[in-house]
Amino acid sequence: MSTIKVAPSILNADFARLGEQVSEAERAGADRVHVDVMDGHFVPNLSMGAAVVKSLRRVTALPLEIHLMVSDPDLFLDEFIAAGSDSFLVHWEGNHNLHRTIQRIRSQRKRPGVAINPATPAAVLEEIVEDIDQVLVMTVNPGFGHQQFISTTLPKIGRVRELIERRQLECDVEVDGGIDSETAPQAVRAGATVLVAGSAVFGDSLGITPAMNGLRAAADAALREAAYEPTLQRS
Ligand code: DX5
Ligand code: ZN
Repeated sequence: MSTIKVAPSILNADFARLGEQVSEAERAGADRVHVDVMDGHFVPNLSMGAAVVKSLRRVTALPLEIHLMVSDPDLFLDEFIAAGSDSFLVHWEGNHNLHRTIQRIRSQRKRPGVAINPATPAAVLEEIVEDIDQVLVMTVNPGFGHQQFISTTLPKIGRVRELIERRQLECDVEVDGGIDSETAPQAVRAGATVLVAGSAVFGDSLGITPAMNGLRAAADAALREAAYEPTLQRS
């Protein structure tokens, strides 16, 4: 039985100590680092660019996954690839050339994924799921860290998982937003295999290592309980 992967989101890290904090998350067992890129247009917030990825590449061996919350992801791919990115999550919303973007990522030997917002149905993935390695189900509206988990996304996580299993694909079901030791088990029971967590890792008053341990323990307990016949919402 595989374990749940944890991807700390650096959006909530202390940027003055970013290298140290990512190294601590790595020692505490992080599986990848989630980098939230916002352009102030696709979402009402600005965050970071490829320079941050270039610096992180020197301090961690973990895969760097780039969540592109930007209006035109194609504009930025080359720069982020040159900086050392390993995978890209691009949004379904507003992307009229999604298949082309995915092929471009694949042609550069990077892992492509598609992100869907809370109001976007799982069914939009039908024609693209065979071409990707990850689905990112947004469990908050993108743009900010430390928001409340939207629990009406839980049945959708199940529908995404079912779509992937029905076609016997090797594709991660990743969840992003409001994930902590209370919501992580719910997401895992619904079918999530990768948890993005920002404030629950970097904002915990006990520190990064205890926060990572607590999150992983909660997620793994839920996985054992589900015994990986997750409670899929069959339609
Ligand atoms: C939201 C971002 C998330 C966010 C997660 O737009 O995509 O990755 O940083 O932060 P928390 O875990 O605090 O909700
Ligand atoms: Zn994200």
